[in-house]
Amino acid sequence: MIRFPDNFVWGAATSAYQIEGATGADGRSPSIWDTFAAMPGAVAGGHTGDPACDHYRRYREDVALMADLDLRAYRFSVAWPRIRPAGADRTNAAGLDFYDRLVDALCAHGIEPLPTLYHWDLPQELEDRGGWTVRDTAERFAGYAVAVHDRLGDRVRTWTTLNEPWCSAYLGYGSGLHAPGRRDPAAAFAALHHLLLAHGLAAQALRAGGARSIGLVVNPAAVRPVDPASAADLDAVRLVDGLHNRIILEPVLGRGYPDDMLEHMSRYGSGLGAGHGGLDWLEATDEKTIGAPLDLLGVNFYAPTYVAARPGAPGAPPYPGSEGIDFPPPTGPVTDMGWGIDPSALTDVLRRIGADAPGIPLMVTENGAAFPDRIVDGRVRDAGRIGYLDGHLRAAHAALAAGVDLRGYLAWSLLDNFEWAEGYGKRFGLVHVDYATQRRTCKDSAHWYGSVVAANALPG
Ligand code: NOJ
Repeated sequence: MIRFPDNFVWGAATSAYQIEGATGADGRSPSIWDTFAAMPGAVAGGHTGDPACDHYRRYREDVALMADLDLRAYRFSVAWPRIRPAGADRTNAAGLDFYDRLVDALCAHGIEPLPTLYHWDLPQELEDRGGWTVRDTAERFAGYAVAVHDRLGDRVRTWTTLNEPWCSAYLGYGSGLHAPGRRDPAAAFAALHHLLLAHGLAAQALRAGGARSIGLVVNPAAVRPVDPASAADLDAVRLVDGLHNRIILEPVLGRGYPDDMLEHMSRYGSGLGAGHGGLDWLEATDEKTIGAPLDLLGVNFYAPTYVAARPGAPGAPPYPGSEGIDFPPPTGPVTDMGWGIDPSALTDVLRRIGADAPGIPLMVTENGAAFPDRIVDGRVRDAGRIGYLDGHLRAAHAALAAGVDLRGYLAWSLLDNFEWAEGYGKRFGLVHVDYATQRRTCKDSAHWYGSVVAANALPG
């Protein structure tokens, strides 16, 4: 048997916009994802976050499912537009009531609630005033975080601020693949900075309010050269690693932005429009704020990234300045997202983050795979997902064996759900959702995962 440490945290993850539905209920205001999904062509199939898994109304059933699967922790996100509609400073008690009931239901089953305060659903009104490209959004986030902590802090031990700021900034403001759909490198860097600032300000405010365990969830890339013997490929790795990993991890870990990334960002100006040269958004104390003490670093991981230097290659739109770099598609097995399956990359990422962040516990806060699951005779035989999870759990264990302080593993996702620009077509759930009837069916992988959790071990 491959045993995990005692008290290893086992669970599953979701996010508000992907599962809740009920986008007009109890005073919630529109988020950037409601607006984006309504734009023709933005989301596959024209899908939107309604009704998603109708979790807002079916949360009790979903918590009971988690208990049946023996899960010990549940990572969910709180929807800012439910708590502070229109991004204003007024707290909507009815919005908080939902998370209050959810947390009570989790506690009643002995499942640890692990809330994330921002999983991409910015109130639309804040976007209308500049969104993450402006400082005001970061300041308002801290106020919102405190409002949630005031209500749930008696039952929630560990808080995470943002989910994957890389995606919010680069996909939302750089490549335009995600809400709000902007395509402007300067805006992407300004957004990244204000997201990190939001994290730091919220961490400070939560700590001042009595929170004792505060984390951030990142999606580090395992960037690998196509040809490890090519100096040009290694330079490409250095740039992509910088734009994906170091630009976030270094300031968050209190070391400030790396010089090469400051220089890279300066090439694009401030993001504030004509007349503003340089990084006008970077104020003297910001890096100190961003480097607020951390108690947990959440790692979301799915697939490695390969890069090669190729003169004339267009680069990848999310990485401003990556022209001349090729991002070849995976050559081995892939999931339904077209993402490569290579568990060794998870070991690499955990070892690297562990070395970068000495003294900070890590948790795999997302890992999983989409496959084109079907119910046949009442069962979903998702052997592909079991293989993926088994391989990645072994890889996580290898990181533990190498001395990484890994505290837990959360599968993405509890339920099939709204996969952002891909809509409902991509199924990541341990539990199958029939969107027409909202019927839940545990896939074979759910039963398999439940038995791993119960044993705290994998078969050797
Ligand atoms: C990361 C995101 O946090 C989550 O929302 C998304 O569904 C998964 N990756 C899969 O793409």
